[in-house]
Amino acid sequence: MNRIEKAAVNSPARRALQRFYEVPALLRLAGGPLPPGSRAVEIGCGSGYGTRMILDRFRAVRVDAIDLDPTMVARARRRLADRQGRVRLAVGDATDLTSVFGAEDGTYDAAFDFAIIHHIPDWRAAVAEIARGLKPGGVFVFDEVTAHALARPSYRLLFEHPEHDRFTAKEFLAELPRHGLAVTGAFTRINGDYLLGAARKQDPDRG
Ligand SMILES: C[S@@+](CC[C@H](N)C(=O)[O-])C[C@H]1O[C@@H](n2cnc3c(N)ncnc32)[C@H](O)[C@@H]1O
Repeated sequence: MNRIEKAAVNSPARRALQRFYEVPALLRLAGGPLPPGSRAVEIGCGSGYGTRMILDRFRAVRVDAIDLDPTMVARARRRLADRQGRVRLAVGDATDLTSVFGAEDGTYDAAFDFAIIHHIPDWRAAVAEIARGLKPGGVFVFDEVTAHALARPSYRLLFEHPEHDRFTAKEFLAELPRHGLAVTGAFTRINGDYLLGAARKQDPDRG
């Protein structure tokens, strides 16, 4: 992320959008808070505001949260200081949860992507890693920025994102079943610029 995007992501406006719009919408799409005792992973946790939402609103009992940027993880550590014991924070790449958290296949009840997968050059590898880390029946909750938004002059002027192979909402939703993730609900906003949704990891034994 460049400095402008970092400032935007860490702004009160971003936190308000996340708290008052995105999280209520994602809770509806996910069918409500997680079952008691749920363990979650959050990729690209940034300053940890979403991590708080996962604990308080989605009611996960524990969250493993990862971000590539050490300065963001340091912010998250400060924000979540009162949640020690329920949050494990780490600097690392979302495409490899095993090296960082030792996450075996089927470790998590829920996985959260608050606007990060569009930053990953091999975004399909991130989807595959999320699917691998989820238990059968686990939920993947996502809030993404699509190729439509990234192609806008304002986005190109202000922010820096990988340019090759970005996804539309349709392409992102089509990728999920390839990794055993069945979409349970999704919608786009602002003419397809943003995609919010939820998907469940299928149980291979149940077909
Ligand atoms: C647009 S910010 C979103 C931050 C936060 N989730 C939010 O909604 O405010 C994207 C975040 O993803 C992180 N990131 C980018 N690529 C990553 C990767 N491969 N693995 C983990 N985090 C990554 C960035 O450092 C940044 O903090």
